[in-house]
Amino acid sequence: MTTRVQTSDADGSYEPIARVLVSRRRLTARVAELGAQISADYAGREIHMVGILKGAAIFMADLARVLSIPATFDFMAISSYGAGSESSGVVRFIKDLDESIEGRHVLIVEDIVDTGLTLHYLRESLTARGPASLAVAVALDKASRRQVPVPVEYVGFRIPDAFVVGYGLDFAGRYRNLPYVGILRPEVYTR
Ligand code: IMP
Repeated sequence: MTTRVQTSDADGSYEPIARVLVSRRRLTARVAELGAQISADYAGREIHMVGILKGAAIFMADLARVLSIPATFDFMAISSYGAGSESSGVVRFIKDLDESIEGRHVLIVEDIVDTGLTLHYLRESLTARGPASLAVAVALDKASRRQVPVPVEYVGFRIPDAFVVGYGLDFAGRYRNLPYVGILRPEVYTR
């Protein structure tokens, strides 16, 4: 059955989405809270935000703009999924950072933590490069799916075990631009 959903603040429908899990309004409010918390925690310091492409691009842009401390940006790309909806468990390294992180206060910005394999790998490899400090901010956390324990200092929303898209998250490259987090209809990825 297709459920009509709100695509934004205006009424609308978007067939591939079964239901909205986190609305645009809740995302905005929670990101503002995270920004205030991070700004307080790093008061007097400059933060070096490391966004994990491509999924974190939207969360990073939103989070960066609600910080009240100086921030610099870099990006890296890692893939653990290919074109499917299940983690392969293999972390593939695609793009390294442009700048050294030695002596900097690094905040890894990621879209979602699921099995934890990607963040575990990132924490280990970035810690080895000698940052002054390292912390992680994720928009979403599927805690029930964790395979490796990994510390996550800043979490937007804990969500149930469902494949979600929007707010940067994709299925086979699509739906990243949806302004909310939605549950994809299973027919879309089982077809
Ligand atoms: P992990 O290594 O299993 O923790 O997975 C992290 C990565 O898997 C994320 O950066 C996403 O790219 C992807 N991922 C995990 N769950 C979802 C989902 O529900 N929708 C879209 N991508 C997801």
